[in-house]
Amino acid sequence: MRRKLVAGNWKMNGDSTFLAEVEILKAAHASSTVEILLCPPATLLDRLRTIAGASFSIGGQDCHAATSGAHTGDISAPMLNDAGASFVILGHSERRQDHGESSSDVCKKAKTAISTHLCGVICLGESLQERESGETLDVIADQLTSSVPDEVNAENLVIAYEPIWAIGTGKVPTTGQIGEVHNFIRTALTERFGPETGEAVRILYGGSVKNTNAVEIFAIPNVDGALVGGASLSAADFSPIITALENS
Ligand code: PGA
Repeated sequence: MRRKLVAGNWKMNGDSTFLAEVEILKAAHASSTVEILLCPPATLLDRLRTIAGASFSIGGQDCHAATSGAHTGDISAPMLNDAGASFVILGHSERRQDHGESSSDVCKKAKTAISTHLCGVICLGESLQERESGETLDVIADQLTSSVPDEVNAENLVIAYEPIWAIGTGKVPTTGQIGEVHNFIRTALTERFGPETGEAVRILYGGSVKNTNAVEIFAIPNVDGALVGGASLSAADFSPIITALENS
């Protein structure tokens, strides 16, 4: 039985005033039946840890493949761990685009994260052009093979399917399109890692998840929750999405 997971990816948003939003979320979902993960900018991890307590998990948005060294501006997996994180988002399309990260880079980061006892939320997704030219499943298969290391299990891996064209655009794939990709990922994980791990890894959907579409998305088979960007930035927007997952 996979425990449902809803993750908020704040991206490069948030300062200490955002912590008040987390207090509101906590009042509403302190003992939720689903796992709630907050991924703030690294500057807020430590303060968020104090507020989150046992109610929420916290995670970083990226880590370096090395554990320490001369990499100005980067953050290592052990540093995230030290700041209280138990998850790290890896291979988000914004990192792949803005920082030229390849699937092989993502795989190296994932290995380091796993060896540091972090759970990697590895993001996959096709561009609009790839979707329109019928390449979606090929792209997902390739990203899955090359971004996910061999060392994974259900405790240290979460997959997030995030079509690039749906991120921050308000455009969402049909339930059939989401279901097709999630089933495809489930089958690929089962073939590669065996039925026990393949069935237990959680697969999230991400890309313009809102209060208005969450119920429909969470009803799709093999959707175990969501990775939420814009709508995770206020308690008023995020709380109904959490509630939709709790009721799914
Ligand atoms: P969005 O972002 O919910 O704002 O579309 C999702 C993500 O990039 O993780």
